[in-house]
Amino acid sequence: DDRHAVQELPRCLCRILPIEVSLDRAMSPLLRMRVAARWQAAEGIDAFELAPADPAHTLPPYEAGAHVDVHLPNGHVRQYSLCGKPGIGNRYRIAVLKEEQGRGGSRCLHDTVAVDATLAISAPRRACRLQSRDGIKVLFAGGVGITPILAMAYELLGRGEPFELHYFARTRARAAFLDELLAPPLAQAASLHLDDESAPGAPPALDAALRALPADGELYACGPAGFLDRISGWWQREGLAPERFHFESFVPAAPSGDGAPFEVEVASSGLRVTVAPQETVVEALARCGVEVPVSCEQGICGTCLTGIKEGIPEHRDQYLTEQEHAANQCFTPCCSRARSPRLVLDL
Ligand code: FES
Repeated sequence: DDRHAVQELPRCLCRILPIEVSLDRAMSPLLRMRVAARWQAAEGIDAFELAPADPAHTLPPYEAGAHVDVHLPNGHVRQYSLCGKPGIGNRYRIAVLKEEQGRGGSRCLHDTVAVDATLAISAPRRACRLQSRDGIKVLFAGGVGITPILAMAYELLGRGEPFELHYFARTRARAAFLDELLAPPLAQAASLHLDDESAPGAPPALDAALRALPADGELYACGPAGFLDRISGWWQREGLAPERFHFESFVPAAPSGDGAPFEVEVASSGLRVTVAPQETVVEALARCGVEVPVSCEQGICGTCLTGIKEGIPEHRDQYLTEQEHAANQCFTPCCSRARSPRLVLDL
């Protein structure tokens, strides 16, 4: 129904019709949403409650840890975790930290998207999922990383599963959703760790919380890279089971360029281009006049997804699933590279 769905597909996705899983994802129409409410959740972090532009439209359900692609008025696409109560109400909620030095996505949302504005978004996609294993779930959030963690807390509450939630922030003013975290029913599970309210000389709160983890605990973490690096370093030093640590990062796991040179060939024209070590495939093709549409340029959104006719890519994205990586039928040229000396691209 195009009254509440924007019927458009990224051009590159139309090229990979034989890839069943990617096609399914690509065929999901965008949802047209209205900003039903907007408020300050913390210093620099605004929450946006999104309702279907057509109130008769029922939004797809989602699980905690899911995110949506938000198509911004400036033409960029950004990914934001859903941070409401999964399964409750015909609403999605995101919260966005305004990054003055960022690439412009959060500034666009903060500066131009008011209540009653409409936005196109993707259907929810899952990034980090709560596993159903024995053992208490422990949720760690740093800064705006509270967004997927809050949805997980609500999902665990709904399941009646015990959990702990530890929220780390520099100051009280910069901690988001405290009105929900410090009130029942979340308050019984939530602990707030604020840098500027810790006792002088006290050990870092993150280290103390890690040392206090239950022996059979399963850790879910989201936050800035330094926060996650510290947790992951501790996890490895302690020799804990890797399958009990799940994290969601705001940044791609691998740099976009960096590696050995290789050649790409454009199947339709036979054009061959060498991709230099510090260059992405998208940049190398652009040098020769071949434009590949991009958005995130970090391997997150799938806008640049390109089919592969020959060769083996080195996948560096977070968009494709493990099965799609293994199939090697498409890759994200904004960040991925090649294992074989040459890739023939379905362009
Ligand atoms: Fe977003 Fe390549 S541009 S994955």
